[in-house]
Amino acid sequence: MEKFVITGGKKLKGKVRISGAKNAILAMMPATILASGVYRFQNVPNLRDVWTMSRLLIDMGIYSELNDGELFVNSHEIKSFEAPYEHVKKMRASFYVLGPLVSRFGKAKVSLPGGCAWGPRPVDLHLKGLEKLGADIDIEGGYVIAKTNKLIGTRIHLDIPSVGATGNLLMAAVLAKGTTVISNAAIEPEITALAKFLVKMGARIDGIGTNMLEIEGVDDLHPANELIIPDRIEAGTMLIAGAITEGNVTIENCNPYHITAVISKMEEAGCEFDICENKITVRMEGPPKPVDITTAVYPGFPTDMQSQWVAFMLKSNGVSKITETIYPDRFKHVPELQRLGAQIEMSENTAIVYGGKKLSGATVMGSDLRGSAALVLGALIAEGTTEILRIYHLDRGYESLDKKLRELGAEIWREQTEEY
Ligand code: UD1
Repeated sequence: MEKFVITGGKKLKGKVRISGAKNAILAMMPATILASGVYRFQNVPNLRDVWTMSRLLIDMGIYSELNDGELFVNSHEIKSFEAPYEHVKKMRASFYVLGPLVSRFGKAKVSLPGGCAWGPRPVDLHLKGLEKLGADIDIEGGYVIAKTNKLIGTRIHLDIPSVGATGNLLMAAVLAKGTTVISNAAIEPEITALAKFLVKMGARIDGIGTNMLEIEGVDDLHPANELIIPDRIEAGTMLIAGAITEGNVTIENCNPYHITAVISKMEEAGCEFDICENKITVRMEGPPKPVDITTAVYPGFPTDMQSQWVAFMLKSNGVSKITETIYPDRFKHVPELQRLGAQIEMSENTAIVYGGKKLSGATVMGSDLRGSAALVLGALIAEGTTEILRIYHLDRGYESLDKKLRELGAEIWREQTEEY
């Protein structure tokens, strides 16, 4: 096992390059099931989740190799139509193989993901949508068994604009017979990126970037290459790392349009920005003003930035309310931040943060990806040394976070530990 050892108090300064978006590549890798052949993806982050998806594809007979930001996939020979529990339990995005498998081969056996660290995360919308497209769905032994002779285009209204359901159903609909309309579709940049990639593969999709997707099924698709968009959550996390330490940090290879909600809340808190086409500099002097946020679907404030905002507000000079509407239980970071001395009260799905209290180093434990990022941010401003255990959660979604922060001047080391 590995842990981070962080000594707080350093102001971060300098430039950092943002990696490719985890949630974009994780949707595109399963899309390679839709057409036999060779694919090349660039700007691919070296993350545990990308390796997990690679492993899943390899087990299905698909060649997948990640080298220095380039991912080669050869889906010439698909031998298995199954996503075993072993993979899905590690990473819910494995569920993305369901739509492409049913659509191209008319059969799939995919483990149900179950709950996650911050509560239930159902997949009912994925399944209802596939049934509407004409798939027979059975649940047996914890697995979804889906079968069909041919998916037939239909109208699907999503009760919630789910990212995963939109991606899965989009990949199912591209090879269905006739027209499918997905309304109340997710418009997260990673879904837009997936839709554009499918179009490169020969899919016919109208309304990309809107919440109404119209898909005209085609008989065949072909392989394509893609440059992965920058990771907006890593970008937001690095901006907060700069601001919380009262530093001056420039993030490069990012898309400012994808994080306008975060930037505008940071401006309200008193951060200063220089924003160019693919570069953002943040400067901060003194503590931030307390600013409330409520998470929402894109382009609202992302749930994947909620825990980092809790950490940011610990530095503020007042009281703020952070309300989680997407995953009401996503507050595993709170008790760990309290171990650093944070004063936070929970009231249902709202964290009330009393900023300005001194934080001091302690041993804490990551329990999910973004919550662990909040612990790193807390450690950067805590007096003394903090040890963060279970950093495998962080490695799922942040490429070389320790190295990147160290290059900005943070005192952070990755060490082996016996502790679990
Ligand atoms: C994706 C992201 C994750 C992010 C989340 C919300 C990936 C790999 N992961 O997760 O990082 O936190 O979007 O932006 O892209 N829901 C249902 N039924 C369903 C599906 C979802 O009720 O069938 C609910 C969920 O419980 C949640 C909401 O819809 O309350 C949004 O979830 P969803 O957008 O599906 O998240 P994921 O795709 O799992």
